[in-house]
Amino acid sequence: MISALCLNPSFDKTVEVDTMRVGKINRVRSVRTDTGGKGTNVAIVLHRLGIPVRCLGLAGEDGAAQYEQRLEKIGVPHGFLHIAGTLRTNLKVVSHDGQDVTEFNEPGPTVDEQRLKSFLKLVKDNCRGDEMLVLTGSLPPGCGSDTYARLMRLLPIPSILDTSGEALWNSLEASPFLVKPNRQELEQVSGKALPTLEEVRHAALRLIDAGARNVLVSLGSDGAMLVNLSGALYSPGLKVKVSSTVGAGDAMTAGFVAGFNQTGDFREALRRGMAAGTASVMTDGTQLIRLEDYEALLDRVTIQEV
Ligand SMILES: Nc1ncnc2c1ncn2[C@@H]1O[C@H](COP(=O)(O)OP(=O)(O)OP(=O)(O)O)[C@@H](O)[C@H]1O
Ligand SMILES: [Mg+2]
Repeated sequence: MISALCLNPSFDKTVEVDTMRVGKINRVRSVRTDTGGKGTNVAIVLHRLGIPVRCLGLAGEDGAAQYEQRLEKIGVPHGFLHIAGTLRTNLKVVSHDGQDVTEFNEPGPTVDEQRLKSFLKLVKDNCRGDEMLVLTGSLPPGCGSDTYARLMRLLPIPSILDTSGEALWNSLEASPFLVKPNRQELEQVSGKALPTLEEVRHAALRLIDAGARNVLVSLGSDGAMLVNLSGALYSPGLKVKVSSTVGAGDAMTAGFVAGFNQTGDFREALRRGMAAGTASVMTDGTQLIRLEDYEALLDRVTIQEV
């Protein structure tokens, strides 16, 4: 069993207008609401790939039941600790031609230390026998940047971490099995631009010096690089018709976790991560991946040592 943690879930509401007009009335042509939050996205993709997974997290009590019902419908087992406040809604306003997306992202309810401690206990009690813990997304208000490190120290199981800034840097000393920054996140923690693969590899090695055991850097349309002390593997980006890159990183994380969980092989994990990430850009907005796209892409992924 794999547990994906989602500390700040959201309803992702996408509304379509002709053209977004600031300060005017905008008539909505269509509305769609999906479960959001990076941990939940990872859990849904893992479930779609046939991997036993559960989603654990914190959820504002106003909205939690509706969120949980949606996960049940999708078929993902869950355990959310309810906290005071409203489960956030992230609103995306999309113009009819698909050119502009205006986003309004709520911070989510504040988590106090007592509730966080209860959540740590929930994770410790439930995940003891798990194979992997996936920690992903930004931390909700009230949680210190050491929160992921605290979670990782609870149990001696490998953790996959996808977050940014201080939450990423302050987690490295807890020795995550793998961290998955994108290029921009790696540039931010490195304090410099990383235009070449060689510079990306060097910056990833710095994260390994700081405690990470493996680093998977996603490079958008340029593909991805996996770095550890044994070497580096690079997989060039695949050319596909891009509908929306939202959630590509989550799909890649899920594909990697699925691959590693089933084979224990880094090359195979990278291949499945690339196929899942690429499949996700072929779907609209907040939809994740179609299995048939993923399967068709697996054979197109190439991997080289660098
Ligand atoms: N434009 C694209 N064309 C082809 N593949 C892409 C494109 N964008 C992303 N991908 C694929 O998805 C993977 C993850 O994408 P990316 O590096 O954008 O993640 P991210 O920035 O973490 O995404 P997220 O917005 O979910 O956090 C890439 O490594 C690549 O395989
Ligand atoms: Mg990302």
